[in-house]
Amino acid sequence: MESIKRETEVYILKIVGGPASQLLASRTAKALGTEPVLCEFNRFPDGELYIRIADETKDENVTIIQSTPTDSDFVSLLQLINACNEAKELNVVIPYMGYARQDKRFKIGEPISARAIACCVNADRIFTINIHAKNVLRYFPCPAKDLDAAKLLGEYIAGFGMENPILVAPDSGAKELVKNVSSYQGFDYDHLHKTRLSGDTVIINTKNVDVTGRHVVLVDDMISTGDTMAESIKILRDQGAVDVYLACVHPVLVRNAVLRLFNAGVKDIIATDTLEKAESILSVAPLIADALKNI
Ligand code: R5P
Repeated sequence: MESIKRETEVYILKIVGGPASQLLASRTAKALGTEPVLCEFNRFPDGELYIRIADETKDENVTIIQSTPTDSDFVSLLQLINACNEAKELNVVIPYMGYARQDKRFKIGEPISARAIACCVNADRIFTINIHAKNVLRYFPCPAKDLDAAKLLGEYIAGFGMENPILVAPDSGAKELVKNVSSYQGFDYDHLHKTRLSGDTVIINTKNVDVTGRHVVLVDDMISTGDTMAESIKILRDQGAVDVYLACVHPVLVRNAVLRLFNAGVKDIIATDTLEKAESILSVAPLIADALKNI
């Protein structure tokens, strides 16, 4: 097994991939020159989750990688952390953290769901990737850092060789992300205005983005129902965009989102493997591996 050399010690790292992040954990282990630890996942007859790490974690430096798009994935993460309670040092990587969008109380009586989830996840340190709202990091009971996949996305988009593309965020919440993705490559960027009417209905207004005759890449942290992007694609195409690509970190893509996006005229969807979907063509494994090397 490859060892990560630090100034004070030789740091042997065991990478444990949870059920939602098997591919990403394997890629991260490979990037670190090691093999992922094998885990067994199953369900008891009554539906409860069974999990087992098929290797010793006692007195080891362990990193768990597990996204939490579903409630079951969150339970699996808690189980994995508990199974590693005798590890020497435990890092937890949550590439996509579910419930992060409920980062405040929007209506009286609501929970801050992101806080409810975060406060249960304890380790020596936690990493997230482009978490929906950075203020969620303070709810973890241990040091937490958000890694940024913007540079990787920018490099990937640059590889398309599009002439003079413009990168556009569908709402002001994605302004910082689109700026970061663009700035590494010197792309033009702008953003639209979004009003959310319900969980799956939005209205998009253009502002003054001139896309006539240009290749457009819409950039957002996540695509869920696809409504935000479908509405944005229609507007940009109506305004004369040559073609519209989508780039996101987290391809949540629930229900018929993919069909809706192609129906709206998207050219292609670029996403990372924080969630493992057919669209996850760009891996964030190098980002995680670098973070672990630099602990
Ligand atoms: C919200 O602010 C996020 O950044 C995304 O824009 C949103 O979650 C996308 O959701 P949907 O695909 O359901 O419109």
